[in-house]
Amino acid sequence: MNNINQRLVFAEQLAKEAGELALGYFSKLNTLTIVSKGVQDMATEADVNTENLIRAAIESQYPEDDFFGEESSDSYVAKEGQGIWVVDPIDGTQPFVNGISSWCISIAYLVQNEIVLGVIYDPSADEIFSAQVGQGAKLNGNPIKVSDVKGVTNGLISVGYSNRVKPEDTLGPLERLIRAQGMFHRSGSGALSLAYVAAGRLIGYFEPHMNIWDCAAGCLLITEAGGKANNILAGDNFLIDGNPVIAAADGVYDDLIAIINNN
Ligand code: IPD
Ligand code: CA
Ligand code: CA
Repeated sequence: MNNINQRLVFAEQLAKEAGELALGYFSKLNTLTIVSKGVQDMATEADVNTENLIRAAIESQYPEDDFFGEESSDSYVAKEGQGIWVVDPIDGTQPFVNGISSWCISIAYLVQNEIVLGVIYDPSADEIFSAQVGQGAKLNGNPIKVSDVKGVTNGLISVGYSNRVKPEDTLGPLERLIRAQGMFHRSGSGALSLAYVAAGRLIGYFEPHMNIWDCAAGCLLITEAGGKANNILAGDNFLIDGNPVIAAADGVYDDLIAIINNN
């Protein structure tokens, strides 16, 4: 096994352990303390403790690697050649705190500005989506591929929204999608939605801004499953700043771009 493959096996195992911990909290929601990080932005001890578990395991197994997680990192100094783990311990905190099962653990590993592995684990469904660059994407160990539909009228396109962007940045594309006879979907977990695009359940995903921990694993899953995604590593400071995300099945991507750009 090369070292990326070893890390993928490790990440799959770790995502499952983290998922088990988070699922324990999900089963006793009424005992959790919800801390507001902003309007419609929250965290609970489930988010923090799940990230702590993931971080400790990575630091113990791969002390030479760096770590960037939603709950414990707010700055990052790039070190030449060093691999970095990018982690969202619970993506879909809003559904999570409301007792809705569309949430997941998202773990990616980047080397020199390339996403080389991605794992998304949905504990409620016991589904693990995983990809290694150049090696395809899998769901519970079986190869997956994006939908083979063409255009936006034959499937669901997930549209993400957060108050990090102006409402118009979403409303314009959403209106044009509906006028083009597309159908939108939003589960509250952008990462899990991206995994669903990779598995052919959704045909595309659009969100004007995502942080790197929301989308790194999901975008690799999509490109490894034969779909397309924009460059989410654009800009000098993409780890801190994030980027827009547009990702879709091959036959949907150009139409979705045209709808978003209004041309
Ligand atoms: C959020 C979810 C949501 C997306 C937001 C993310 P969180 O992550 O992925 O679906 O629309 O942009 O911030 O807060 O649940 O980890
Ligand atoms: Ca997230
Ligand atoms: Ca999160």
